[in-house]
Amino acid sequence: MKVLITGGTGFIGSHTVVSLQEQGFEVVIVDNLSNSDSAVLNRIAKITGKESYFYCEDICNRDALKNIFSEHQDIVAVIHFAAFKAVGESVEQPLKYYHNNITGLVSLLEEMKSARIPNIIFSSSATVYGQPENLPATEDSPVLPATSPYGNTKQINEQILRDFLLVNQDLKGISLRYFNPIGAHPGGLIGELPIGTPNNLMPFITQTAIGKHAELKVFGNDYNTPDGTAIRDYIHVVDLAEAHVVAMNALLNNSLKENYSVFNLGTGNGFSVLEVIQSFEKTTGVKLPYRIVERRPGDVEQIYASTKLANEVLGWKAKYSLDDMTLSAWNWEKRLSEQHFSYDDKV
Ligand code: UD1
Repeated sequence: MKVLITGGTGFIGSHTVVSLQEQGFEVVIVDNLSNSDSAVLNRIAKITGKESYFYCEDICNRDALKNIFSEHQDIVAVIHFAAFKAVGESVEQPLKYYHNNITGLVSLLEEMKSARIPNIIFSSSATVYGQPENLPATEDSPVLPATSPYGNTKQINEQILRDFLLVNQDLKGISLRYFNPIGAHPGGLIGELPIGTPNNLMPFITQTAIGKHAELKVFGNDYNTPDGTAIRDYIHVVDLAEAHVVAMNALLNNSLKENYSVFNLGTGNGFSVLEVIQSFEKTTGVKLPYRIVERRPGDVEQIYASTKLANEVLGWKAKYSLDDMTLSAWNWEKRLSEQHFSYDDKV
């Protein structure tokens, strides 16, 4: 069976392509390489022994989508990752985010409808919950007003998908709300490739440990948490990738009650920033220089997922521990820094 992956050379996309190919799916990737490298395609092929079809195209380009769907009439589903994701940049350039993220989904849905492709999985985020009043966050927790255009595009896109599927009952969709994806494929061939200075915790930790930054700034230790630092639900990207295959099978097997569903993807465990640092130091043996600074504006104090729905309905559960995540992220960073290992084997 053939699946179209938008953003398939990105961090989560590339790991999902690997999982899909390992489960016997054929994969067509559409990615404009705005935040990824075409060398990822060779890396995926090295891991799985399978080639992907690849189109360097923007998902806002309707003609390109039309052509791809007409060349691959056997596509049974789309997993839609392609989107901009930098919170700070979205505040500075809101229209860039609204255009790409929202127009992208709308054009994809319209082209899927005319090509009669019945299934879509959308990459959403736990950011839709803001700071939930009650933890763990369940799929029924209120969606709070977004604090950035990026967060708003996730909320709006979920709404677009819900509205679209309400009047297209022959089509089916799932929004997957990711908590904090980190880590890398265990073989060290694919992982996160942040452009410029990363904003997220894990890539900043590994880049600091390798010597690219003098120290990690820990944003606040006066939160109402056991050690005062903020708590998140970190999930191994390989677990997350496998959840997409499970969700895809649920759509293809018609095993869900409704034609639109939402699932949290997390481990259900919250870890503080200091606990992530401790895990990193323990698994890698590398001492991490860090300093406590002011809170980062817009950060929530703590959030972690209820994974009950994904466990019970999809039969999916995360397998990897925080130590697996920090160690695999470090192995990836080391591979990236090796002289002979660079992303120069472009296709
Ligand atoms: C962030 C975004 C969120 C987005 C997600 C995508 C913000 C406010 N939120 O989530 O909308 O969906 O990334 O991956 O940007 N931390 C440090 N020092 C650092 C970096 C982070 O102490 O240099 C702390 C943060 O304060 C936070 C935790 O580490 O408590 C995790 O941060 P991060 O990886 O940026 O993820 P989120 O803030 O949860």
